Amino acid sequence: MKRIFSGIQPSGIIHIGNYLGAIKQWVELQNNPPALGADSIFCIVDLHAITEPQNPKELSKNILSIAAIYLAAGIDPKKSVIFVQSSRPEHTELAWILNCNAHMGELERMTQFKDKSAKFTKTSIPVGLFDYPVLMAADILLYKTTEVPVGEDQKQHVELTRDIAERFNHKYGQTFVIPKPIIKQTSARIMGLDDPTKKMSKSASSPNNYIAMTDNADIIRNKIKKAVTDSGTEIKADIKKPAITNLLNIYSEVSGKATADLEKQYSGKTYAQFKADLAEAIIEFLKPIQKKYSQILKDENNLKQILKVGSEKVAPIAQKTLKEVKEKVGLSVL
Ligand code: TYM
Repeated sequence: MKRIFSGIQPSGIIHIGNYLGAIKQWVELQNNPPALGADSIFCIVDLHAITEPQNPKELSKNILSIAAIYLAAGIDPKKSVIFVQSSRPEHTELAWILNCNAHMGELERMTQFKDKSAKFTKTSIPVGLFDYPVLMAADILLYKTTEVPVGEDQKQHVELTRDIAERFNHKYGQTFVIPKPIIKQTSARIMGLDDPTKKMSKSASSPNNYIAMTDNADIIRNKIKKAVTDSGTEIKADIKKPAITNLLNIYSEVSGKATADLEKQYSGKTYAQFKADLAEAIIEFLKPIQKKYSQILKDENNLKQILKVGSEKVAPIAQKTLKEVKEKVGLSVL
């Protein structure tokens, strides 16, 4: 039996990079599970969100908002489980035990930590930010996950999870399943619209970096109009044309058309014509998701009930693994 686990932080907006890199795959996996079938668990990782400063009121709102995006994008609570990380104390308890089996050096090598900690120029770096990947390892290992569908930027964290799991198994005997990342090559790394050398990011300094899942038509048209392009005029995916390659990639993902077909369609056309059509393709693509999203948010009680049921569904799995781990480590005398 396979088990799929993944999550997104409720830290501010959720952008089409998150959708194309992660959620789109989740829906595909949920609807066409790998051979042998699979349980799919999708988490709102709020404890990861507080590794960086969050406004408490906004955070609570964002937790529900991400849950609504999961549902609107096609995660079906009848087929998959959706729950909030902080609703299950087993995550932090396992993280502590894994902390004692993780090494400073391997955490110091994490590129996400290097990038995020560099932003703390005026205040001290929270320990939680450093420890973030160990909590992520706990999320994954708690459910004996076999596959972790994520964007390219999370590959290093899943590899660290594998290393920690192997180390633990070696020390205490076979306990954890060794998970593997699933990365969809075509959307593994959606780049920033204002800087195609860096990934699209919710913490980008300008909102022109991303298309949020909730951006309206005018905002989308404006952001695509402002998106940087490369020198030359040709609309072609090429290593020397990172901006156009990224826009073609987004276009292909939202329209379902192959990049080669888009290149043919726009041969001899201007960047402006291409961008105008791309904006409309994104608007059309997001329309049904946005409609469902606002409907779902209107019934907050129902949304909370889905999250509560989700938390109850994963509880026995989480409790069983934690019990096994504590026994292996010698922490279960009582
Ligand atoms: P987060 O919230 O930063 O990102 C959520 C997902 O979106 C993907 N992603 C992208 N994919 C393509 N292009 C981009 N520009 C882009 N930006 C983000 C990320 O790879 C991720 O899949 N640490 C995780 C959250 C987490 C988690 C877990 C994931 C916590 N525990 C356990 C899987 C399993 C994260 O980066 O979230």
